[in-house]
Amino acid sequence: MEPKIVFQGQTKTGKKVIIRYPTMDDLLPMLNFINTISVEQTFVRPQGEQFTLEQEEDYLKDQLEKIEAKKVVKLIAFIDGKFVGTADIFMKAQVESHVGVFGIIVANGYRSEGIGRLLMENVIKESLKEMPQLRIVELSVFANNPLALDFYKKMGFIEFGRLPEGVLHRGQYVDHIYMYKKL
Ligand SMILES: CC(C)(COP(=O)(O)OP(=O)(O)OC[C@H]1O[C@@H](n2cnc3c(N)ncnc32)[C@H](O)[C@@H]1OP(=O)(O)O)[C@@H](O)C(=O)NCCC(=O)NCCS
Repeated sequence: MEPKIVFQGQTKTGKKVIIRYPTMDDLLPMLNFINTISVEQTFVRPQGEQFTLEQEEDYLKDQLEKIEAKKVVKLIAFIDGKFVGTADIFMKAQVESHVGVFGIIVANGYRSEGIGRLLMENVIKESLKEMPQLRIVELSVFANNPLALDFYKKMGFIEFGRLPEGVLHRGQYVDHIYMYKKL
């Protein structure tokens, strides 16, 4: 099946970017992407652990089923055919069925070019289309990640709480900050 493209345009430095839904054909680039991110020990959950092909296959299958069931919108970004980032919103359930949880990662070497903003704008737009019950987007961010905090504030997210020392990052306890945006 042809992947569904949601955006084609240029980054701030004029590179051609494509943002689209994933398919099973994206398995290997996705595995490589997440394992590289994990080694970097950046401001995300994986901190060095490596995922196997089987684990990533199970994850991607599960995500594709959830996209089909309109419980998740996941988008991936490519520059010159290279997988450079991903963002998603998954819907919570029951009394929180109007709340979606946002996540985003852009590959090292492709940051600060506008890909994060494009991914966020498109994932929110697409989520409102596919999951119209969405009213609130929430996210969590490590307190030692000022760039992401500024980005989220700029995009209209408001801090609503923090778990003091809720994250152990590179051997240091840092606060976990929770933010939301009403759509
Ligand atoms: C946080 C992240 C997703 C942002 O994506 P990005 O593609 O680098 O962001 P963009 O280039 O679209 O910039 C978005 C905003 O971030 C901020 N920003 C980006 N690069 C910056 C830099 N070098 N210095 C200062 N601010 C910067 C700016 O506020 C920018 O706003 P602008 O579009 O008005 O310039 C990306 O840097 C990343 O994946 N980092 C590592 C993992 C991570 O922190 N994930 C988020 C976990 S909560």
